[in-house]
Amino acid sequence: MLKKIKVEHVVPGMYIQELCGSWMEHPFWRTHFLLNDPKELDTLRNSSIREVWIDTAKGRDLEGAGEAVMEAEREAQVQASLQAAAAVERHQEPVSTAEELQRAATICQKSRHAMTSIFGEARMGRAVDTELARKVVEEITDSVTRNSRALVSLARLKNADDYTYMHSVAVCALMVALGRELGLEEAELMAAGEAGLMHDIGKAAMPLEVLNKPGKLTDEEFAVMKRHPGEGYRILQAADEALHPITLDVCLHHHEKVDGSGYPEGLTDEQISLFAKMGAVCDVYDAITSNRPYKNGWDPGESIRKMAEWADGHFDTKVFHAFVKSLGIYPVGSLVRMASGRIGVVVDQSDGSLLKPVVKIFYSTSSGCRIPPRIVDLSAPHHQDAIAGREDPAAWPFPDLDELWSGLPGHAG
Ligand SMILES: [Fe+2]
Ligand SMILES: [Fe+2]
Repeated sequence: MLKKIKVEHVVPGMYIQELCGSWMEHPFWRTHFLLNDPKELDTLRNSSIREVWIDTAKGRDLEGAGEAVMEAEREAQVQASLQAAAAVERHQEPVSTAEELQRAATICQKSRHAMTSIFGEARMGRAVDTELARKVVEEITDSVTRNSRALVSLARLKNADDYTYMHSVAVCALMVALGRELGLEEAELMAAGEAGLMHDIGKAAMPLEVLNKPGKLTDEEFAVMKRHPGEGYRILQAADEALHPITLDVCLHHHEKVDGSGYPEGLTDEQISLFAKMGAVCDVYDAITSNRPYKNGWDPGESIRKMAEWADGHFDTKVFHAFVKSLGIYPVGSLVRMASGRIGVVVDQSDGSLLKPVVKIFYSTSSGCRIPPRIVDLSAPHHQDAIAGREDPAAWPFPDLDELWSGLPGHAG
């Protein structure tokens, strides 16, 4: 039986079915769990959560607190109310990139935990927790809707060891941003996000020594890795609840190329769905911009340039152009040299031209040293300076580059 009780009546051994309130305010990333650790109880009591639903069939019941039991009994329409409790108000009003970055950092962290759990469960042969995946997609969709740049920029930053999980989060955010650019409706946006989040779940079925190999794969190992779309499809079909058909399609087809040279089925242009084409673009961008054990990620602007070179034959042109429009020719975090000889990092896009983003200038090549950082909108009518070209971050001693654009300490390098 499900009972709604006050947090002060929670004791170890109870099975927490649902925490009342928004997932973002929860101190835990899990949606339901057996509460056994006294530390978790402290965490719960110190949080903003005031009430929880417990499942007495899976854990300890409420005893001795008469008042609380009566309250629990008053909650007759348990299932209906539970649904209502889960339907949390969504926030999608536009905010600035700087403002959303703060919140996006928390969403990234919780989503990474959730994806670590989903991959771990899949590796042990257990069903995908679709409810948890849906919460992650909802938070990411809302963040990208409030501001299309913050989360996609932050999710690019990864440690080599959390690559697979953060890659899922990043591709989810990129899919939503791209979907918005393509004018998709809310339900399709959520499906695109879910597809991005789950596209590589088949990697949970790959041997760890191949998945985590620090270096180039042999032909044999590559042949093994090529099975991950099919394995992912199988894992998603066995999820605890049905996932969106788009999610299964993207999982199976995100490595197809329009010229037919992709895998697993070698589909050509018109045989590949719009969503799988979106998946292909978002997947490649995040893979090449991310740090891996054997190589550092490329600069975002340089990655867009490289992808434009490969676009013919690999990507759908219309989808790729929309992708560039959503991110910019110089995406947030790109290192650029100005015509004036100063160096800066892109901190936002402008409403004007894709070639005139907002840049934080922080270095002078004429004096060869740092200058006090200054933010300039290159699209402003009176502005004289312009971007002369991209710069390779690896060629410059700027270990705080990511902190410079994100404003978040601890995101350096
Ligand atoms: Fe993949
Ligand atoms: Fe991928």
